[in-house]
Amino acid sequence: MLRSKFPDVGTTIFTVMSRLAQKHQAINLGQGFPDFDPDPALCHLVSKAMAEGHNQYPDMTGVSPLRQAIVRKVQSLYDRAYDPDTEITVTAGATEALMAAVLAVVGTGDEVVVIEPCYDSYLPAIRLAGGVPVTVPMQAPTAQDPGFRVDWQRVREAITPRTRLIMMNFPHNPTGIILQDSDLDALERIVQETGVLLLSDEPYEHIVFDGQPHRSLATRAVLAEHAFVISSFGKTFHTTGWKVGYCCAPQALTAEFRKIHQFMVFTVSSPMQFALADYLQDPKPYLSLSSFYQAKRDRLAAGLANSRFKVLPNPGTFFLLADYSDISEQSEADFSRWLTVEHGVTVIPVSAFYREPDAPQSNHQLVRFCFAKKDATLDAAISKLQAV
Ligand SMILES: Cc1ncc(COP(=O)(O)O)c(C=O)c1O
Repeated sequence: MLRSKFPDVGTTIFTVMSRLAQKHQAINLGQGFPDFDPDPALCHLVSKAMAEGHNQYPDMTGVSPLRQAIVRKVQSLYDRAYDPDTEITVTAGATEALMAAVLAVVGTGDEVVVIEPCYDSYLPAIRLAGGVPVTVPMQAPTAQDPGFRVDWQRVREAITPRTRLIMMNFPHNPTGIILQDSDLDALERIVQETGVLLLSDEPYEHIVFDGQPHRSLATRAVLAEHAFVISSFGKTFHTTGWKVGYCCAPQALTAEFRKIHQFMVFTVSSPMQFALADYLQDPKPYLSLSSFYQAKRDRLAAGLANSRFKVLPNPGTFFLLADYSDISEQSEADFSRWLTVEHGVTVIPVSAFYREPDAPQSNHQLVRFCFAKKDATLDAAISKLQAV
């Protein structure tokens, strides 16, 4: 008799909204991926790696040139020297790294603190490990304070002797918020008091605006010593379909992480790894990503300024939140469907990133726009949105 591990899990909101977009031929600013191609030079490096014979199982931990390139990037940006042999693992995207890290350290009955709203794979990963998710909601925006904020006092209060891990993601999907020094200070105090482990999901590390730095958990020794720092090349090089990511963690954590990784996927596509290793020799593509996306953010925000949507501050990621309270009183999910069907633009309800999407406390009349799109796509969406 089949017994589902996830009887309550259905199709994700991203798939549901993308299908609705297709059915109504709406412009899809929902799911978070670019509608443009990666650098042809990077694609050429994949072909070159294949022609050079990199087509069989690579090293379980990731090919050595890529692990070394990751170490150099992390060292130059965050001033932390990870060991490429014992502290870096190349993974099948950030998603696999998240699952492997959770399965590595969370056991039956262990509690995991998750800051909400959160990416949709976190809670299933915890449940699969037998753990208990403890969600701590961010402070929602108000008229006086229009951004989301983490209340570290509430995070601290959520920690019990059963807590194994805190999961976090900055720059944050869906809210776009980034970490400040004061956030790292607060987190450092929590780690020093409790010894809790950390999982920091940082796939938007290179998309931070207005001259601000990305404050990786790798920048602080106390945090790095307790953390799985996870990233991905999908968002950085416009290659979300390649599914290559990585995890940086101290040796003892990496050893446990790799025990899971080797039986989940064993290893990751070889030609992509060699190509990425080559491509990373030039830092310009990832260092220029923020200005590339800042122009798109400004384009969408300027367009929405002439609409009834009210844009929230967006310091990072390629997502912009907008308040639709001047347009409708519908729930976020109903409004998102209505916008697709009636106005031909698809967005994602922010409530979808909460454990209880239909609860009033998960609905703030906000929707998420993805602006990783060609300017022509954004302009077409803007003119439809201005007519709402
Ligand atoms: C916060 C966050 N974590 C992880 C991922 C997954 O990354 P990958 O495609 O590398 O598995 C995403 C993708 O949207 C994300 O937004």
